Amino acid sequence: MASLADIVQALPKAELHLHIEGSLEPELMMALAERNGVKLPFNSVEEIKAAYEFSNLQEFLDIYYQGMSVLQTTQDFYDLTMAYLGRAHKDNVKHVEIFFDPQGHTERGVEFATAIDGILDGLAEGEKQFGITSHLIMSFLRHLSEEEAFTVLEQSKPWHDRILGVGLDSSELGHPPSKFTRVFAAARALGLKAFAHGGEEGPPEYVWECLDQLQVDRLDHGNRALEDPKLVERLVEENIALTVCPLSNLKLCVVDNLHNHPLKKMLDLGLKATINSDDPSYFGGYVGDNYLLTAEALGLGAAELARCARNAFEASFMDKDRKQQFYRDIEALIT
Ligand code: ADE
Ligand code: ZN
Repeated sequence: MASLADIVQALPKAELHLHIEGSLEPELMMALAERNGVKLPFNSVEEIKAAYEFSNLQEFLDIYYQGMSVLQTTQDFYDLTMAYLGRAHKDNVKHVEIFFDPQGHTERGVEFATAIDGILDGLAEGEKQFGITSHLIMSFLRHLSEEEAFTVLEQSKPWHDRILGVGLDSSELGHPPSKFTRVFAAARALGLKAFAHGGEEGPPEYVWECLDQLQVDRLDHGNRALEDPKLVERLVEENIALTVCPLSNLKLCVVDNLHNHPLKKMLDLGLKATINSDDPSYFGGYVGDNYLLTAEALGLGAAELARCARNAFEASFMDKDRKQQFYRDIEALIT
C-alpha cells in the first residue's frame, strides 16, 4: 500500500493561497540584500530563521514587510517567482493563483511596474519550464486606507488583462472588509474577481462582510466562520471555497496544535476546503508539507486528501478543459 507521503506526492495540486513575497527564502533574502546594497538587521541565514517565532499575525507581518525590502528590481521579482515555481513543481503543483502586495513595494519607492513585470515574466517562464499554469491576484493592504487602494487599482489598469482579481490582506483585526466596499465594487465593475482574507483572526462578522459587501469569489482562511452555524450554512449553500493554510495557522497561533486544526471539521460540514501554504518560507513548509503534516495530525486518509486536491482545481480559475484532466488523475489515485 502506498504511504501517505507517496499519495501526497502523487496528487496533482493547485495552490490558491500563496503570497509570493512570503516565499522569499532566507538564502535569497541575503543574496538580494547583498546584490542591492540593502542593510538587513540580520547577519546570517541562521539569524533570519531564528527571528521566525510569532505569537500572532502582526508579529509576522512586521518581519514580512522588512524582508521584502530586498526586492528592488524586475530581476529580483523574477528570481523570487522562479524560485517558488521550482519548489512548487517538486510538490507536483500544476496550477497556482498567487497574491502579490503592490503597496508593500510602492510604499518604499519601488514602482508597480517593476514588481508586476518581474512576477509576470517569472510566471510565463514557469509555465514553459515546469508546465505550471497561473493567475496573479493583487492584494490591497487593509491597514492602509481605501483611498490608497483606489490608487493601486488605478495604477494597475494597464495590466488588467493579466490580473485575475483583487485580494485583501495584512492586519485583519480593526480593519473590517466593509472599509473596502467601494474599491471592491470598482474592481468587480472592471471585470476583476474578488478575494479576501477573512476569519483568520477576525470574527465571523468579518466573513459575513466578505460575502455581503465585497462579494468574494473565494474566501482566504475562514477558520472563525465555524463559530457561526448560519455562516457555515451560507458558505456551503453558495459553494464558496476556503483557502485554508494549516502550517500558517500553527505558526501564527490561530490554532495551538495541528491536532486541533479545523480542516477535517470543515470537510465534514461540507465546506469546500483547500490546502495551501500562505507564506511558506516563514511558516516552515510548502504545500506538500501542509498536506502531509495536516493529514498525519488529523488522521486524514487518501480520499480526504484527494477531496482537498479536487476542491482546489474546482475553486480555481483554470481553463475548464484542463481541469478535467486533473479530476481524472486524482480519481485514478484513489480507485
Ligand atoms: N500577508 C501575508 N500573509 C498573510 C496572512 N496570513 N494574513 C494576512 N496577511 C498576510
Ligand atoms: Zn494569506
